[in-house]
Amino acid sequence: MTLKNFLASLLLAAPALAHPGHREEVHAHAALPLERKSLAHCSAEFNEPEFIKRTVEIHGRELARLRRSLGIEVEENRLRRPKLRPRDYISVSRIDHKSNKTVSKGMELSTLFSDSGACMLMPAVDQGPLYVQGEEIRKGITNGEKGIPLTLAIQVVDYKTCQTVPNAYVDIWSSNSTGIYVGVQGYPGMGDPKDASILKGTTLRGVQPTDSHGVASFDSLFPGHYDGRATHIHAIVYLGATKQPNNTITGGRAAHVGQLYFDQGLITAVDKVAPYSSNKMRITQNTADFLFMQGANGDDPIVRYALVGKDLSEGLFAWIRFGINQQANKPVNPAAWWTDKGGVMNPNGPVAQLNGGGGGFGCRVREEI
Ligand SMILES: *[C@@H]1O[C@H](CO)[C@@H](O)[C@H](O)[C@H]1NC(C)=O
Ligand SMILES: *[C@@H]1O[C@H](CO)[C@@H](O)[C@H](O)[C@H]1NC(C)=O
Ligand SMILES: *[C@@H]1O[C@H](CO)[C@@H](O)[C@H](O)[C@H]1NC(C)=O
Repeated sequence: MTLKNFLASLLLAAPALAHPGHREEVHAHAALPLERKSLAHCSAEFNEPEFIKRTVEIHGRELARLRRSLGIEVEENRLRRPKLRPRDYISVSRIDHKSNKTVSKGMELSTLFSDSGACMLMPAVDQGPLYVQGEEIRKGITNGEKGIPLTLAIQVVDYKTCQTVPNAYVDIWSSNSTGIYVGVQGYPGMGDPKDASILKGTTLRGVQPTDSHGVASFDSLFPGHYDGRATHIHAIVYLGATKQPNNTITGGRAAHVGQLYFDQGLITAVDKVAPYSSNKMRITQNTADFLFMQGANGDDPIVRYALVGKDLSEGLFAWIRFGINQQANKPVNPAAWWTDKGGVMNPNGPVAQLNGGGGGFGCRVREEI
């Protein structure tokens, strides 16, 4: 079994997608429509001057914060009207998601964020095998690691009512700049399977609440690539969760589970910069990734972005809008938990199951890395 097939089999194993079987059915499944939650019908709401104004203000505040940290002056903004329509994954992969404005002195923020109207939703897909539940509520998730700074602003919107969703918690996680997910032990290709120290890691994992206009934002790093998947960031949107005294969340339900992606050209540019350039793992293109194909089939799961400074070194500001079903309650099965005792593997989680359920690391899998 290759890593890709393994990921595909996990997807098939999900209760909502019960199609037990082998590879052919993965492709058959890929052709089935996922739960469609297009925000195309929301263009009236999203084009409301008040809606645009508030979105621009919030994104603008974030950007202003970044620019101030670079000593760049902040300008005010004006409004423009975006258009919404569904797409197929090839056309999505061909869209240039780079804002044609670089984030520089004297720029107008409105022209930057009017682009976000075209980003409909992040599609619901599998949570993947590397989720750690129980991470802390924190905006900065780099833990001081090296990489290209990525400030990611996610706006959560109800796909039926087109209203923004405040007081949700967005939980994100991704590989680090050299393509490793920390926090989970024993996943093929993700460090020495016998080295439990990886469980201490929380890098590029964290939770943020959405504000009054449905926006949660993180200071992260551009994720690194790894074999078998296109470069992506995972996200779960929790509704009804409670903040605990130790700054973690409990309860509630996962109303949305998804993944967001980046322009292939941007990934190529990032991969030329250290430490990304030291990563020798194979690169999987967006258009060769079956989860991207599903996600981008009708929707646009690629973030819009702008450079914060003159080039990549000063980082990126990226934004996307998720359309969610507030009634949904998705099954979540974490590979591990982050606890007061540090990271603990879930014996019934996807990675423990992969390794035979006993927490040991099977040779069969190791040979397939
Ligand atoms: C930027 O401009 C190019 C060419 O003018 C266009 O093809 C592209 O879609 C634009 N990108 C955005 C994000 O507007
Ligand atoms: C990514 O994480 C791995 C495992 O913790 C670590 O060995 C590697 O140095 C990290 N990459 C960077 C750029 O810090
Ligand atoms: C936070 O508190 C909960 C409830 O006491 C506990 O289960 C969890 O392990 C704690 N998490 C951390 C990171 O301290």
